[in-house]
Order: sequence, then C-alpha cells, then structure tokens
Amino acid sequence: DLPADLAGHRVLITAGGTREPIDPVRFIGNRSSGRQGSALAATALARGARVTLVSGEVSVPPPAGAEVVPVGSAREMREAVLAHSAAADAVVMAAAVADFRPAETAAGKIKKTGAGPEPVELAENPDILRELSAERARPGQVVVGFAAETDDVLANGRAKLDRKGCDLLVVNEVGDGRAFGTEDNQAVVLGADGSATEIPRGPKEDLADRVWDLVAQRIPEGGAA
Ligand code: C5P
Repeated sequence: DLPADLAGHRVLITAGGTREPIDPVRFIGNRSSGRQGSALAATALARGARVTLVSGEVSVPPPAGAEVVPVGSAREMREAVLAHSAAADAVVMAAAVADFRPAETAAGKIKKTGAGPEPVELAENPDILRELSAERARPGQVVVGFAAETDDVLANGRAKLDRKGCDLLVVNEVGDGRAFGTEDNQAVVLGADGSATEIPRGPKEDLADRVWDLVAQRIPEGGAA
C-alpha cells in the first residue's frame, strides 16, 4: 500500500541537465538522463502530492499529472525555481546544473576563420540550491540536494551539505558507470540534523520513495507556513 503522506502538499522537483549556450546552435551540456527526477515526480504523485517539475534536458518523459516547466540554461532554471518555490512544502533538486557557462553567447554561429579556434571563456553559474536554502521561500520548507561524489563520499557529502545549507543531501557514488544514465542507484542521505541513511542499490523509484520518507517526516504539521 502506498502511503498518502504527501496528500495536501506541493513539491517542486528539478530534473535533467542544463544546456549552456555557446552560440545559437551549440551548448555545454552533461549526461544527466532526468530519470531520478522523473522517479521522484512519479513517486510523489503516487503519495498524493501536487508536483511541479522544472525540467532541463531529459531523455525520459515526465510522469502524467506533473506540472512541467521546461528550461534550458542554469539561469533559466533559477528563474523557474524561484518563481515556483514559494508554493512548495518541499523542493528536491535532482537536476545536474552546470557549474559554469560560456561567459558570452555568440549572436551568430561561430565559424572557422583559418586562424585557429578562439577559447571559450567561462563564467560561474548561480548556485540555485544554496540560494534557495539560504532564503527559504516559506518557513519549514524542506530543501533537498543531490550530490555525485567519486571519492571520500561521506566527508565530501557532509562538507557539501554544510556549504549548501539544505536539510537533506542525497549523495551518490559515481564513476565506473554508476548512477548517471543507469537504471539503478544507491546512495546515502545525509541530514542537517547529523543523520545518515543508507539506501541500498535498487531502482531509482525505490531511492525516490526513501527520500520522500525522509522529507515527509520533516514537513511541519499543516505544511510549510
Ligand atoms: O555543487 P554540486 O553541483 O555538486 O551540487 C549538486 C546539487 O546542487 C544538486 O542538488 C544540484 O541540483 C544543485 N546545484 C544547483 N545550482 C548549481 C549547481 C548545483 O542548484 N549551480
């Protein structure tokens, strides 16, 4: 039986990868499939939540019933998240947001000149998770981040949780084909309260349900104010 513990709550989920434009036809992207975000949306819907899915580039369709807000770049994702976060009791940031973008987007397609390529200068993107955690749109709102770490998973995860200021950080161990684009996922969820919850390897839906268990425990009675 599915718990209806998210009934009456609205959740905001980010999914997929951002695309940072170099010129009108080229971008810097990443390998995020959007599967974990989609699984989070599907399981939240099944538990009774109303779901807003801010979606970057994904290779899986969103679940029926989610309100989908499509975005391209990290800065567009930031605008969409800020516009929709005030209504959310919980925000789960599963998107792979590019840390850097081309400092300038060329107005026209960059051409070969014969003089060799021009370097692409990069600028830092806003950290949406950190901003959202620092300026909660509603008191009691639960903010969840994801992190992919290749080494010192727990120590790096704990440091990232502190840096971001979120309530929960889902730390995936990546590398060797794990997590990105795969069906299965395994993680440890670190809490700002010092907790650490191991989630064994399994389908992304199972990980999503365990994340919602932890979120549901933290949403105040009656929802975020
Ligand atoms: O710093 P790092 O990219 O490892 O952090 C990952 C977490 O932060 C994810 O939840 C991601 O959605 C979020 N993030 C963000 N804005 C950025 C970079 C990451 O919200 N510019």
